[in-house]
Amino acid sequence: MANPLEEIPNNLPHKPANLLSDEASQGHLQRPKGTQDVLPHESAKWGWIEETARCYFQAAAYEEIRTPIFEVTELFERGVGEDTDIVNKEMYTFEKDNRKMTLRPEGTAGIVRAYIENGLSRSPKPLKLFYSGPMFRYERPQAGRQRQFHQFGIEVFGLDRPEADAEVILLAMGFFKTLQLPALSLEINNIGTPESRQVFKQKLQALTQPHLAQLCDACRRRYHTNTLRMLDCKVDTCKAIYALPEIEAFLSEDHSDAVSRDHFETLKAILNHLEIPYRRNSRLVRGLDYYTRTVFEITSTHLGAQNAVCGGGRYNNLVEELGGPPTPAVGWALGWERLVSLVPGFPNRENDYYLVTDQPAHAFSVAEKIRRAGKSAEVDLSGKAFSKQMAQAGRRGAAYALILGETEVSTGTVTVKNLKTAEQTILPQDQFLSGLRS
Ligand code: HAM
Repeated sequence: MANPLEEIPNNLPHKPANLLSDEASQGHLQRPKGTQDVLPHESAKWGWIEETARCYFQAAAYEEIRTPIFEVTELFERGVGEDTDIVNKEMYTFEKDNRKMTLRPEGTAGIVRAYIENGLSRSPKPLKLFYSGPMFRYERPQAGRQRQFHQFGIEVFGLDRPEADAEVILLAMGFFKTLQLPALSLEINNIGTPESRQVFKQKLQALTQPHLAQLCDACRRRYHTNTLRMLDCKVDTCKAIYALPEIEAFLSEDHSDAVSRDHFETLKAILNHLEIPYRRNSRLVRGLDYYTRTVFEITSTHLGAQNAVCGGGRYNNLVEELGGPPTPAVGWALGWERLVSLVPGFPNRENDYYLVTDQPAHAFSVAEKIRRAGKSAEVDLSGKAFSKQMAQAGRRGAAYALILGETEVSTGTVTVKNLKTAEQTILPQDQFLSGLRS
């Protein structure tokens, strides 16, 4: 198989995914709102990107972890945080045997649970993992935002050094470069420790208190429950308030503790040294409660309102909070659907041999030997005239047609036709098959 990292032609027009569905339309059964069917012309692209990701991250010594799609609800309540939008209103929760279960809204909490439960804390550090799979959030569907979506992510356990933050960010940027994504923006922030954030929160509450009446309902709720998330609000009146000079001045100072600040400075120095462009966004707080110190997001102007293709950060307390030994960790996840829509093209996979035949039993056995030699082979199953089968070979994009008729079977030969040059040769079957391996 060709190395998917080698060559990437830019041959596909951008094709927005068809995301919005209505299950009740005209009595037909339809996919649930906010889900997507990935049809063959798109799944080939998905498959190629997945293969590229696997090669890219394995080459950086990351190993795959697979965890269940559902977990006990408490894991997300404790892991992601009771005050987050995800836990408050977006979880798909159901009850079985008097136990509340939830379809995972993200991957990190489940991986931390698996890390603790399987004693991975005893494995040599750092432990570098990648994962991929469907996630579920009951959100209002719109372009780029689904109720079932897919993430690919990486997590590094056991390193408190800013070099680990730098590596995960660099790997994300490097992977996107390999896929030839159009220009991306990297935003980073330092949100300090839970203690320093408490001080930050109180100050932000004091500064926004005089404006409470003008804030949107969500921000008025967040003011009490999840104060820093107010800064993420997309409502214009709220944005105008958070841009008031006194709040702006407060945000541009660094309110985190000294260790977090040093950590952040080293991370920035590495990014500067490698000439990775980034912007410090002091409003970037992210929607999950487990972060400490570094948070980051990678966005694209080609994605519309839902512009984040990747988000992540450091979470030094989560393993301990979920019952494991103190273990610093850092990671990110990207949204497959958003990524796929940004990838400009992928190499077409050519079919090597198309078997034109009225001797199917022989053809199946030859096709099997071709595949065992590492080439692809498709047998025409139509029973139609050879001229029609030859035309089909061309339509299927095969490099060669392999003709196996009565004459070939009785003489132990195959007729090989190069479909580009129309050159045709008759070879003993054994010679043809042994030639495949050379
Ligand atoms: P997140 O920012 O919630 O982080 O999600 C990561 C990415 O998943 C987003 O940047 C976006 O591309 C995609 N995504 C999220 N929600 C949706 C949706 N409703 N529809 C389509 N795509 C979506 C996390 O999930 C963290 N677990 C990341 C992390 C890993 N932090 C540390 N390690």
